[in-house]
Amino acid sequence: MKVKLAEVGPEISAIVAGVMTWGDWGAKMNTSQIQNQIDKCVSLGVTTFDHADIYGGYTTERDWGAAWRDMSISREEIQIVTKCGIKYPCTERDYNLKSYQTTDAYITWSVETSLKKLHVDYLDLLLIHRPSPLMNPEVIAHCIEKLKSSGKVKHFGVSNFTTSQFEMLNSYTPLATNQIEISVLERSAMLNGQLDQCIQHKIKPMAWSPLGGAKMFQKSKEYDLVTLRSRLQDVAKKYGWELDELALIFLNHHPANIIPVLGTTKIERLEKAIASSNVQISDEQWFDIWTAATGEQVP
Ligand SMILES: NC(=O)c1ccc[n+]([C@@H]2O[C@H](COP(=O)([O-])OP(=O)(O)OC[C@H]3O[C@@H](n4cnc5c(N)ncnc54)[C@H](OP(=O)(O)O)[C@@H]3O)[C@@H](O)[C@H]2O)c1
Repeated sequence: MKVKLAEVGPEISAIVAGVMTWGDWGAKMNTSQIQNQIDKCVSLGVTTFDHADIYGGYTTERDWGAAWRDMSISREEIQIVTKCGIKYPCTERDYNLKSYQTTDAYITWSVETSLKKLHVDYLDLLLIHRPSPLMNPEVIAHCIEKLKSSGKVKHFGVSNFTTSQFEMLNSYTPLATNQIEISVLERSAMLNGQLDQCIQHKIKPMAWSPLGGAKMFQKSKEYDLVTLRSRLQDVAKKYGWELDELALIFLNHHPANIIPVLGTTKIERLEKAIASSNVQISDEQWFDIWTAATGEQVP
C-alpha cells in the first residue's frame, strides 16, 4: 500500500526498507544478494528504500546502486530516500572529526555524489540527517529550491529534528517528514511534541529503529532492558503476538500514521511485519503495551 507522506511530499510504501545494515555495516550482501533483496521487497509492495550517504562508511549507496543499475524494475516503481549532512571520518573520507555540514555547496555536492553512487537521476526524498547547531535555514531552503528546480530532488525533509528546529526550517521550505527514533523502547516522540507537530502539519513521521533496533532481540545483561523485554514478552504472549509484531502494532495504533523504516535483512521478517500492519487493537490494549514499556500505570 502507498501513502502520501505530506501534502508537499512523495507517495511512499506504508513500510519502508531501511538499508543501513545491508552492506558494510551489517549483512555485507553482495550484488546478487542486494538484487534479490530489492526484488523481494518490491514484490511485497515495500517499494521505498531508506539510505544515507554515511551507511557502510559511505559504501552502501554505491553497493546498492551497483546492484540496482542492472535490474529491470523501472525507476518510477521505487522511491529512494537518502540523507546528508554528517561528516564521518572513515577510510572513504578524509575528515579529521565527526561533524555536521549544511552549507549550500556541501548539500549540493552530497546530493550529486549520492545520485552517481545510486545510479539514479533523482531522489524522491532528501533528508538532513541530523540538525546542526550551525544550520542556516535560509541557506538550506535556497539550496533545496535549486535542487528541486534542477529535478535532482523531488521532496525534502529532516531527521532527528526537535520541534523548534523543525518549525524554523519548515518556515523557509516545506518539510515532508521528520524521521525520528520511535519504538516501544524509545517513546519520547510521543510525549515531547514531535508527533503532535507532525499531526498538526499533516505530515507523516518516519520511525527509525521501529522495533527498538537489534538491542531489542540480542541477549543483554543490561538489567533495565532485560526486565522491560520480559514485561513486553508477557503482554505479547497474552495477545498471541511475538515481540516484533507487538512493536509494530504499538506504532500502527498511534494516530500520527507512523511509517516504520524496518532494518531487517530477512524477507520472512518483512512479511511478518506487513501482516502485523493489519492487526487492529483497542486503546486499552495499546495502554497495556505502554504500561509494560514504562513499568508503571499512567497517572
Ligand atoms: N535517521 C536516522 O538517524 C536513522 C538512524 C538509524 C537507522 N535509520 C534507518 O532505520 C532503519 C532501521 O533501523 P534499525 O535496523 O535499527 O531498525 P529495526 O527494524 O528496529 O531493527 C532491525 C534489527 O533488528 C533485528 N531483528 C528484527 N526482527 C528480529 C527478530 N524477530 N528477532 C531477532 N532480530 C530481529 C534485525 O536483524 P535481521 O536483519 O537479522 O532481521 C536488525 O538487526 C535503518 O536501516 C536506517 O534506514 C535511520
